[in-house]
Amino acid sequence: MINNELIIGQELELTVEKLIYGGQGLARFQGNTIFIPSSAVGDKLKVQITSVEKNFFQAKILQILEPSIDRRTPPCEYFEECGGCQLQHLNYNAQLQAKADFIKDSLKRIGRFDWQNTLEIIHSNEFNYRNRTQLKIERTSSPIGIGFYKEGSHKVCNIENCLILAKELNQALEALRKSEKEISLSEIPYSKIDLIKGNLEISASQIVAGLSSNAIYQRVLDIDYYFDPGCFFQVNQYLLNSLIEIVVGERTGKIALDLYAGVGFFALQLAKNYQKVIATEVNKKAEFWATHNMKVNNISNVEFFSFSTEKWLGKFSRKFSGVDLVVLDPPRVGIIKKTLLSITEMRPKEIVYVSCDPSTLARDLRVLVDNGYKLVSIIGVDLFPQTYHIETVAILKRA
Ligand SMILES: C[S@@+](CC[C@H](N)C(=O)[O-])C[C@H]1O[C@@H](n2cnc3c(N)ncnc32)[C@H](O)[C@@H]1O
Repeated sequence: MINNELIIGQELELTVEKLIYGGQGLARFQGNTIFIPSSAVGDKLKVQITSVEKNFFQAKILQILEPSIDRRTPPCEYFEECGGCQLQHLNYNAQLQAKADFIKDSLKRIGRFDWQNTLEIIHSNEFNYRNRTQLKIERTSSPIGIGFYKEGSHKVCNIENCLILAKELNQALEALRKSEKEISLSEIPYSKIDLIKGNLEISASQIVAGLSSNAIYQRVLDIDYYFDPGCFFQVNQYLLNSLIEIVVGERTGKIALDLYAGVGFFALQLAKNYQKVIATEVNKKAEFWATHNMKVNNISNVEFFSFSTEKWLGKFSRKFSGVDLVVLDPPRVGIIKKTLLSITEMRPKEIVYVSCDPSTLARDLRVLVDNGYKLVSIIGVDLFPQTYHIETVAILKRA
């Protein structure tokens, strides 16, 4: 129930109970729910109401009366202005705890699972991890803005250096700024620039000339992956091996399906352990690179279909009844119920579901569990330190 007596501008004192997915703190005041950005569990705060929504209020911190033990001084000078990171004010252990809680909370609220088993969050370096990023360019400001969107806006936060980018990308950003003197950025015909760390040197003039739209490659566990900025590729350079270890690991068998395959990140590793791998990918560019990657790595037991998963299931699912493994790694929106039911009807022995959104994962796991599968483990992988995002891998076996 909302107590409508709370109004914009009102000042309150409260204690933060928990963090919610999105990174804001949640506190209660006289039965009302109040969300506060950049707060920490246990903070005693003086806040001011900034907006009144249907079921909650937004507030901003006026004063930290007693800081939470989870707090640290945000290491990034742009924190709170730049929209990229939400958790820089928390020490890294507190970030990992918050992410385990995001996953458990979604499982409970959305999936109706009371997960009592361990929920480990695999992690690595908390800084300099991103191997790709998209810089935004704002030509209407002087000097021209290069950086990321500000929180809640399409205005660019001008940055010199970003703590979560790989050092090579920060070097490319610096070079890009220097090149501004020689090549007017105002002449670049686009407002976004992809920086991708590959096994290629990136120079500013190449970036400005648009060379970053050429192929990039990265080697992961003996496989060379070529791709271009139009394709998905996992962003955390330190956790690529771990992700493959969790999804592929020691699994072996006759047939594995990788139904959202990208440029073949999992499919080409699965090919080492399975006699045959079938992969589907709807993005034609990604499917092009996936086929190329198969060839350059001399892999012949993967068959790529340049179809949507739905279309592939409609045509072929009957032929693949009882396969050993199905890997699902859909976009954030997850998978529609009809598609999940086509998958359960195929009766695969094991399903490994990789997700970057705990809410849609919890929803989809409920469908799988209601249709013959048992949830055997859940592992978080912190691919996105300093942000509220978290990758989750759920492993299900036929019940
Ligand atoms: C999160 S990415 C994962 C890619 C890959 N597993 C990896 O780790 O690099 C999801 C992929 O699913 C593809 N995709 C989206 N909708 C799809 C659909 N309906 N059918 C097949 N692929 C789809 C996207 O183009 C994207 O490459």
